[in-house]
Amino acid sequence: MNVLGIETSCDETALAVVADGTHILSNVVSSQVELHARYGGVVPELASREHVRAIVPVLDEALREASLSLDGIDAIAVTHGPGLAGALLVGLNFAKALAFALSLPLIPVNHLEGHIYAAWLEHRREPEFPALALIASGGHSDVVLMEGHGQYRRLGETVDDAAGEAFDKVARLLGLGFPGGPAIESLASEAAAPAGRLPRARLERPYDFSFSGLKAKVQRIVRGEEGAAPPPAALAAAFQESVVDSLVTKAVQAATDHGAREIILAGGVAANSALRTVLAERSPVPVIVPPPALCTDNGAMIAAAGYQRLLAGETAGLEVDIDPGLRIG
Ligand code: KG4
Ligand code: ZN
Repeated sequence: MNVLGIETSCDETALAVVADGTHILSNVVSSQVELHARYGGVVPELASREHVRAIVPVLDEALREASLSLDGIDAIAVTHGPGLAGALLVGLNFAKALAFALSLPLIPVNHLEGHIYAAWLEHRREPEFPALALIASGGHSDVVLMEGHGQYRRLGETVDDAAGEAFDKVARLLGLGFPGGPAIESLASEAAAPAGRLPRARLERPYDFSFSGLKAKVQRIVRGEEGAAPPPAALAAAFQESVVDSLVTKAVQAATDHGAREIILAGGVAANSALRTVLAERSPVPVIVPPPALCTDNGAMIAAAGYQRLLAGETAGLEVDIDPGLRIG
């Protein structure tokens, strides 16, 4: 069963063909990073237009890489939310057109569920439920208990900035490029030691996050309001350590409290090697982390999640709409 996965929720035009939910036949990502970098963040209108321009060539490449024609595709999975409305519309309408023309099942996929399913793409083994998923991306920081395929309970979330958003904002404060996560990670790796211990937010709900206070603290330090500013690399390392510690502490606590049998690390921030290392060290259960290229947005994860929805008979009619504010659990 070959599922075509289509992802256009933000700034990647990404299409992939995945066989039987786990085997990647092709995975093509056309990144718009350079287009948005000069503005310091994603410009929604530009993102939509770029998806329109890129989507057909990316489809052609995904089919070529998979050595398939459209006749070899059995179903179309597409992100319908959460994300930028205009960007989502490009992918969803493209998916509808293909499904209509080829008389194929259309499967709307929650982008966050896609990030979780990236964990099993290369593993080729069955998930162990209940699993605890930590989704840390540019728009979300969610702690989700997954009790079975398609069964989610959100235990915690960020009350302000998402983890990736915090990386991006602090990178801007430090004069680094966009996206900020990889830039901070690389700068932090040059530090001999972090610049002291930056705060971790304490919140009423045990698995919630808050990163805006940390960002404000970094801002005061950078502006010299707290004495002589430390070297940027040491500050980047201290910031990264604080975010990683908060994410890992809450995820491990939630996994322990809910008897999770594995922890899945998902979303763009899961590409961060400090996060991967610290979580693996502190988790009492196996940690499943996709390779970095499958952590950031891609079509293969959408095809993988779509395959499970297809098995459950959850396809949609052509009237299906985008859902920019879609949650999980
Ligand atoms: O999941 P994703 O590709 O897109 C969204 O759905 O948001 O996540 C993008 C986010 C950005 O905020 C980016 O700075 C962050 O993931 N990110 C990282 C790293 N690579 C990407 N954050 C920390 N360390 C990284 N290596
Ligand atoms: Zn994402």
